[in-house]
Amino acid sequence: MALVNMQSLLHKAEEGGYAVGSFSVANMECIRGVIHAAETLRAPVILQIAEIRLPYSPLYLIGPMMLAAAKRAQVPVAVHLDHGKTLACIQEALDLGFTSVMCDGSDQPIDANVAFAKQTVALAKEKDATVEAEVGRVGRGEDGSEAEAQIASMDDCFRMDETGIDALAVGIGNAHGLYAATPQLHYEVLEDLHGKLHSSLVMHGGTGLTDEQFKKVISLGMRKINIATDLFMSQAGACQGKDIFKNIASSVEAVSATVQRYIT
Ligand code: 13P
Repeated sequence: MALVNMQSLLHKAEEGGYAVGSFSVANMECIRGVIHAAETLRAPVILQIAEIRLPYSPLYLIGPMMLAAAKRAQVPVAVHLDHGKTLACIQEALDLGFTSVMCDGSDQPIDANVAFAKQTVALAKEKDATVEAEVGRVGRGEDGSEAEAQIASMDDCFRMDETGIDALAVGIGNAHGLYAATPQLHYEVLEDLHGKLHSSLVMHGGTGLTDEQFKKVISLGMRKINIATDLFMSQAGACQGKDIFKNIASSVEAVSATVQRYIT
């Protein structure tokens, strides 16, 4: 059990035809809530944090906490850097012992995105860590900043797949944060890619998708599903009154309940 390489989780998910939940954490309560949910349901899980969140939760503090929680867990847990934008941050996560890193060059032209992925693969190989990249574009930044969703092209998917990455986030009309209305997902991208990539497929922007959408994307090969906003909202909603310890306990409980719903 305990801390594992992310690729091993994704390969098992491929064999079993399911997806692993990857949950964004911001503090200790979030981490404990995710682990509690995974242990309750005896499910593997991924703990992740995006580079853009590090001004609030510095990597040198939250990283060791995520790793410690993973190592003590009764279920397999991978620890992942979400949306790594710089090689310096990716290297810091690898040096801390993260078992997976994402290099997100989706805001750059494809040649630069491919070059960033190759550099990341070279760094990650030294630590036997998994690499995720992104093509097309998940709408809105992880922090809510505006960015238009772009549908991934087949050519870009194949080019990125050849860089040696293990997991590929493909833009299919999905976006981070709250959807104003249920999004129209471009399932045809997944149908066209089916069985043609070495990499496992990753779905970003999980908050607010319907059960039918989750089932459909999993049936079409999505093996990692990212959830952030719903965790942050459930934790914020659970903090009431001025008793810090009550707020800690209710945060853990609220995050666990939300994560259990998504895993189920
Ligand atoms: P949501 O905030 O929409 O759940 O997206 C999470 C995500 O994709 C993190 O990378």
